[in-house]
Amino acid sequence: MRFDIITIFPEMFAGIFSEGIVKRALDRGRIRIVVHDLRDFTEDKHRQVDDRPFGGLEGMVLKPEPIFRAVEAVREDGGGRVCLLSPQGRALDARLAGELAAERQVILICGRYEGVDERVAEHLADDEISIGDYVLSGGELAAAVVVDAAARFVPGVVGKEGSVRNDSFAGGLLDYPQYTRPREFRGMKVPQVLFSGDHKKIERWRRKKALEKTARRRPDLVKDDTLAPEDRRLLEEISSERKDE
Ligand code: ADE
Repeated sequence: MRFDIITIFPEMFAGIFSEGIVKRALDRGRIRIVVHDLRDFTEDKHRQVDDRPFGGLEGMVLKPEPIFRAVEAVREDGGGRVCLLSPQGRALDARLAGELAAERQVILICGRYEGVDERVAEHLADDEISIGDYVLSGGELAAAVVVDAAARFVPGVVGKEGSVRNDSFAGGLLDYPQYTRPREFRGMKVPQVLFSGDHKKIERWRRKKALEKTARRRPDLVKDDTLAPEDRRLLEEISSERKDE
């Protein structure tokens, strides 16, 4: 699995991939990340990557030629999934991250300034990806987020296979709460059930807590028609407990 990042700020990526799980995945050869300076794909003396927008208005727009050239140069065997980071894109979620992780090569184009010439989105990119409904100053932070989220789905990247499967969203729900030592801290106690040693009971409690948190914070993620019967029972339990409070 290889990520190619095309950017005018290659230095931005030096720190972010040099720690933690992504670093370990790089060291173990599970993933490769190659950062390309867009200016290396210009052909003029000034290495110009942007220009004024047609139709007037302020700001600068990234030119199409260096981006097309960069993608054509880094593509392996004419393949690769080409993704443009932009606030207009498909929202990144666990499903999309998993899809990307199944590709052999993902090419990430970082937008900048007021935008990117639309011919890139229309004729070069396979996907446009957004990491949320807000505008960043460029696609670099978004590209780093995509790499991190997708890398976690590459086999062998996250230590225990189960930990990705248990992550928030992977099972369609937010995470259940976690606790560690001490058992009591400033009067705040760890729930008793976690010391019971009864794994079935603990599992049921975790599922219930995950459902409760998800129903409260992200009701869009718990749709009644897709719930397993046991989950529906747990939700009923939760709502009757709430009535009792
Ligand atoms: N570039 C600027 N804002 C962005 C966003 N929200 N997602 C992805 N790329 C971006």
